[in-house]
Amino acid sequence: MILKEITARTFANRWKRKTYDHKLPSLSRLVVLKWRQFRVETIGGYNFRGQERDFVQRAYDGMGQHTFEIINGAQDWVNWRQIPRAMRGRIPEGAALIVDLGCGPGSSTRIIAWHGAPSWRIIGMDFSEDLIRQARHRVESGGFSTASGKQPAVEFVVGSVVEPFRDASGTELADLSVDYVNSSGIVGHHLSRESFTSLATELRRVVKPHGFVSLDSGPHLKGGIIRSVMERFGFVLRTKVRSVPLDPRPQLVFQKEDMGG
Ligand SMILES: C[S@@+](CC[C@H](N)C(=O)[O-])C[C@H]1O[C@@H](n2cnc3c(N)ncnc32)[C@H](O)[C@@H]1O
Repeated sequence: MILKEITARTFANRWKRKTYDHKLPSLSRLVVLKWRQFRVETIGGYNFRGQERDFVQRAYDGMGQHTFEIINGAQDWVNWRQIPRAMRGRIPEGAALIVDLGCGPGSSTRIIAWHGAPSWRIIGMDFSEDLIRQARHRVESGGFSTASGKQPAVEFVVGSVVEPFRDASGTELADLSVDYVNSSGIVGHHLSRESFTSLATELRRVVKPHGFVSLDSGPHLKGGIIRSVMERFGFVLRTKVRSVPLDPRPQLVFQKEDMGG
């Protein structure tokens, strides 16, 4: 028991240090991260790419902590640049409800929390039970913090992003209750046009009028498709956020129109 606790704390501290020391990692670090990912995928034969739900879920579920960190290293690099830029000035400073779609082991959620206020309630959602278990473990062992050293209100829920959004107690999120939604490394990588349309239906239900949604474009679902679906559901594209000037896969930041509910 004591040994387990020491291991958990050591890991949480290492994770914190690693994260916060590399808030804006260099381009050369991206090359290293890409190389590691390439090695795991080609030599290790690890395949998680695709849009078929069961295949993707199995791939992430069986991945393990270490492999996930390598597979997701380049995404994490991008996230530290894109997420704060997309969020800035778009979330109320007081109470606010934020949802992080496909949060993995809390890797994107910790960036939102770091740049956020302790008054925010942040819900991370992922369909991999393994990854959500890791995320909860990190919360319990103090792995999340705001930049000012405060404890953020973070919770994690197992669930698919194409089903009704719920909180950690299983309660469905109320209509027009969410201030901001983030997705990193999921919409453009793992959703089809059909599954994204289901997600957009739910976004229209839960997001407050004038609330924001920041979605990742990717190799499968490109910016043009994401934009056309979101516009059909009452969202307006406000900006594209890139990690570097020529970033081919920007975050698309949408705002909900008044009549969108
Ligand atoms: C590349 S990882 C990104 C993790 C995290 N957002 C980040 O950027 O560090 C993609 C995540 O999306 C999750 N995912 C993929 N499809 C999903 C779906 N339909 N519902 C919920 N989670 C999904 C996977 O389990 C995985 O954790």
